[in-house]
Amino acid sequence: MNILITGCAGFIGFHLVKKFSNKKNINIVGLDNLNNYYDTKLKLDRLKIIKKLNNFKFIKTDITNYKKLETIFKKNNFDIVYHLAAQAGVRYSFENPKVYIETNINGFFNIIEISRLYNIKKFFFASSSSVYGESKKFPLKESFNTDNTTSLYGSTKKSNEVLATTYSSLYKMHCIGLRFFTVYGPYGRPDMSLYKFTEAIIRRKKLYLYNYGNHIRDFTYVDDVTESIYRLSKKKNKIKNNFIEIYNIGSNNPKTLINYVNMIEKLLSKNARIVKVPFQKGDILKTHASINLLHKRINYKPSTNMLIGIKSYIDWFKSYYKL
Ligand SMILES: NC(=O)c1ccc[n+]([C@@H]2O[C@H](COP(=O)([O-])OP(=O)(O)OC[C@H]3O[C@@H](n4cnc5c(N)ncnc54)[C@H](O)[C@@H]3O)[C@@H](O)[C@H]2O)c1
Repeated sequence: MNILITGCAGFIGFHLVKKFSNKKNINIVGLDNLNNYYDTKLKLDRLKIIKKLNNFKFIKTDITNYKKLETIFKKNNFDIVYHLAAQAGVRYSFENPKVYIETNINGFFNIIEISRLYNIKKFFFASSSSVYGESKKFPLKESFNTDNTTSLYGSTKKSNEVLATTYSSLYKMHCIGLRFFTVYGPYGRPDMSLYKFTEAIIRRKKLYLYNYGNHIRDFTYVDDVTESIYRLSKKKNKIKNNFIEIYNIGSNNPKTLINYVNMIEKLLSKNARIVKVPFQKGDILKTHASINLLHKRINYKPSTNMLIGIKSYIDWFKSYYKL
């Protein structure tokens, strides 16, 4: 089987390549533009590891380059596409909205359209908990209305789901949207809270807690995410004549940011220098995923214990940054 993983030098893409690399009869092509949204060294280091795998091939390319993508698809005869490349981050979408439209809308169109032209059997794509906007009902269910996103990032992800729904009904293309909920783990993104909090505590820097630490997040360990994707990949089409599936990939175990910081402090045996700051534009107060649909489909629930998950992050962090 030939698979394509876009965004393979990114946090989740890197882990997904590793997950598939030890499965039988799989050839993986990974692509990424290695942009500098965050430290490219981290992307290059992830790449260094996966480039050693003998069933993996890397192609540096930008998903906005339709022609190059078409050549890649023509050559490789993909069966499944895992489209993870995107401009991530909620806050950055207020600073640089253009890149979100270019990558998450135009780039997404290129990948889904070429996947259709080359008869891809399954098209997985990364959506986000951000599609729910500021909900009042919890846990968040896939059936909830998602018309009121509160950031441009969220609205690009919502648009991806709408486009995929159209492709699934027009062309009977099997599309699976994955609404990730605050994914964490080793090699995690430096623009996310776990990196920021761990770094601040270790280096005794001020730790800024938005919304005075009252945000609630459904933190999800990255290995649980890749296991869910792997299990979904093995499934046949769910319902006859329905080719779109959307799943929350969350832990169903929400925690406040203060709780999160306390766990990191405990594991580092150091106190944080907390500075509580107000709510930021576009932030969401609370996420809490219902994972019943996912569980029903794959007989699996993301359930890594948070202290164990954070500990594996901290162990990686200390050794990677030599602290
Ligand atoms: N990490 C999370 O908590 C989370 C939560 C919800 C949704 N997501 C989504 O999951 C996916 C993976 O997220 P991640 O945390 O691994 O982010 P990441 O930024 O680490 O990975 C994305 C990768 O895509 C690449 N990329 C960006 N623009 C590109 C372009 N135009 N052409 C080619 N490559 C490009 C980047 O270089 C990066 O390596 C993204 O679609 C993201 O929006 C992530």
